[in-house]
Amino acid sequence: MLIKPVLPPTDQEIEEICRIINETLGFNYTSQKKYLIESRLNKRLLQLEIDNYQSYLDLLKQDRNERHNLFELLTTNVTSFFREPVQFEYLADTLLPRFATEKKGPKKLRCWSAGSSSGEEAYSIAITCRETLGNNWDVKVLATDISVEQLKIGSVGSFPREKLASVPPQWRAKYFRPDQANPDHFQVIPELRNDVLFRVANLLDNDSLPSRIRLDIIFCRNVFIYLSKEARTQILDYFYHRLHTEGYLFLGHSESIDTTSDHRWLSLGKSIYQKREVFS
Ligand SMILES: C[S@@+](CC[C@H](N)C(=O)[O-])C[C@H]1O[C@@H](n2cnc3c(N)ncnc32)[C@H](O)[C@@H]1O
Repeated sequence: MLIKPVLPPTDQEIEEICRIINETLGFNYTSQKKYLIESRLNKRLLQLEIDNYQSYLDLLKQDRNERHNLFELLTTNVTSFFREPVQFEYLADTLLPRFATEKKGPKKLRCWSAGSSSGEEAYSIAITCRETLGNNWDVKVLATDISVEQLKIGSVGSFPREKLASVPPQWRAKYFRPDQANPDHFQVIPELRNDVLFRVANLLDNDSLPSRIRLDIIFCRNVFIYLSKEARTQILDYFYHRLHTEGYLFLGHSESIDTTSDHRWLSLGKSIYQKREVFS
């Protein structure tokens, strides 16, 4: 069968795709993303044997699964183990020892990797907690993302050898085993996999988010860069209410909170913030 080439999208069609993404995920995509959108979607249209963007938009309106495919294609899932190592050093050297000496009640720590992608961040948090607190703490890391594909990779916990390059060798040996089912892949050991729970959640949809647990630490790194100011404000409010008093929030190194206007957060440097109790 002869497959027809895809007609380039009009500006209006690009704007419509941006609108769907922005309204659902809180992004601030504009028609300036035309090249990115076209380069990522053309292949999908060919797969579907659709030769124009208007027909694809019609499909998006009717088909929820296709909207999920769209989100998978237009989000960026780049991540790595121990990304931005200074933050993990701060967690290990300063924050976790503080929890160990000051936390009242049971030795329990609840962390959330929000926008976890395939789980490298969540496993890095879990390893750091085990190494710093020892095994007699009850530590759980919730890993959430909108990408079902990335969460699947995370919950299986099998990563190609090159991904492990940023894991210190002694921890590579301790927490990973060759994956018998997948040549040149290494799988996270079951004990560490048990520390991490993977769930689909849209940070903009409160109903999909963890509504009951109170968290000690939230990592939400390299997500805000894609989001509109309104979306970031909504999500920060949510984080504030989910964190325990004096809990901690880690953002990506190029992301920040304006603490001169938002007094609920104390900046600790390195894009790490502590929740402050504010009385109005
Ligand atoms: C660049 S990755 C960051 C992964 C990890 N936090 C890190 O810093 O290495 C951004 C992730 O955020 C997810 N994401 C973007 N918007 C989201 C939303 N509204 N709700 C949930 N996840 C979202 C994407 O699917 C992607 O996996």
